[in-house]
Amino acid sequence: DLAQIGVSGLAVMGRNLARNLARNGFSVALHNRTSARTKSLVAEHGDEGTFVPTETLEEFVAALERPRRVVVMVKAGAPTDAVIDELVPLLDEGDIVIDCGNAHFADTRRREAALRERGLHFVGAGVSGGEEGALLGPSIMPGGSAESYRTLGPMFEKIAAQVDGTPCCVHVGPDGAGHFVKMVHNGIEYADMQLIAEAYDLLRDGLGATPAELARIFAEWNSGDLESFLIEITAEVLGHTDAASGSAFVDVVLDQAEQKGTGRWTVQTALDLGVPVTGIAEATFARALSAHPEQREAARAALPGPSAAVPVEDRDAFVDDVRKALYASKVVAYAQGYDQMAAASAEYGWDIDLGAMATIWRGGCIIRARFLDRIKDAYATERPASLLVAPYFRDAVAEGQEAWRRVVAHAARAGIPTPGFSSALAYYDALRAERLPAALIQGMRDYFGAHTYKRVDREGAFHTLWGGDRSEVDG
Ligand code: 6PG
Repeated sequence: DLAQIGVSGLAVMGRNLARNLARNGFSVALHNRTSARTKSLVAEHGDEGTFVPTETLEEFVAALERPRRVVVMVKAGAPTDAVIDELVPLLDEGDIVIDCGNAHFADTRRREAALRERGLHFVGAGVSGGEEGALLGPSIMPGGSAESYRTLGPMFEKIAAQVDGTPCCVHVGPDGAGHFVKMVHNGIEYADMQLIAEAYDLLRDGLGATPAELARIFAEWNSGDLESFLIEITAEVLGHTDAASGSAFVDVVLDQAEQKGTGRWTVQTALDLGVPVTGIAEATFARALSAHPEQREAARAALPGPSAAVPVEDRDAFVDDVRKALYASKVVAYAQGYDQMAAASAEYGWDIDLGAMATIWRGGCIIRARFLDRIKDAYATERPASLLVAPYFRDAVAEGQEAWRRVVAHAARAGIPTPGFSSALAYYDALRAERLPAALIQGMRDYFGAHTYKRVDREGAFHTLWGGDRSEVDG
């Protein structure tokens, strides 16, 4: 019998996706560059469903029913291109190649166009949830043609996480839409983690709370509006003791954050689209800053901080302020990420249903959280100008804004770096400002470069003769 779907690339993610498919009743052809992985998968998990192990790509392709569905789960970039190049000559019209890795959406657009030329479908599918998600139910964000989704969608919807009976998988839009949305998901993941880390730092440094106390605080937060996978695992990580040293685990980990690039892509793309994603940018830059130990050491030795400790009068009130500031900053990060998806959708003609993106992020993925239900609701009727002004979020942020200001002020006075909290508050205040100092910037641009400006009181472009009599002329 021919297999219903194939998976090529059997490292952890590919292996678990293949097992998930098999456990859900689909027959799965397996392929890996070195067959040891294929053999061990069948030896260890062969009883979970129907696997068809193959040794060569030719054998793999021949083992699949038509139209073929081929999942490629290899490293993003050149390795993905290499597998596609080898696969394509073996495929027939209407076959579907699915890239479930973290590819850049521009690569996905390029590959989709190239395969379309040859009568093949190429689906760039974002898959989130790490190893466990891949096995037990990830959030899946497939792009590509609507036609390919008709044959692929039902399978993916079956293996995806389910929330309230709804699968965490939907056809995002054509070509690179799925990978774009996955990229923004990861950017939001960066922002979310940075904000949680700042909350931790404020409470640890500002209050002198121990990791064990902090584990309890985060666990408690996880039973409220902040309920989310990342808050939940924060409590776990903070509560963990290092076996070798007996110290809190968080104290023995080198404080230099690494990154594989999706956060950076999100920021680069946002710059091109002209969408301010300050939360994601600050999170990405904070990781970069942490990873420059020599510079940090020189600065530590040279630069003074506050001369005296800044006392916190009411500890419980401060903890609650930090919780509210975290929530408000998180809303800003999501609002910005949603703006970015909306802008890309318009730019590339993807017609992304933003509410549906919240629906499929409710389960399976790394940023799964209670408040995604609220985002789904916010987009249920009409698209708000910003998530921040959707009634639920407007009220939540309004309720927390005094606390937010106290926390940012405290951080500044105490010398605790909170780029995420501070920039989110600055974004909030800039967005709601009656007048922005952008007018002055326009004035300077006109002064040194005759770049012209518009006026508040009449149409047109104008220029002031700065070097002459300072009269105004049409620009
Ligand atoms: C997911 C994650 C995953 C990503 C890791 C690591 O949705 O399951 O986003 O795709 O690879 O989070 O990312 P960094 O190494 O860049 O932190």
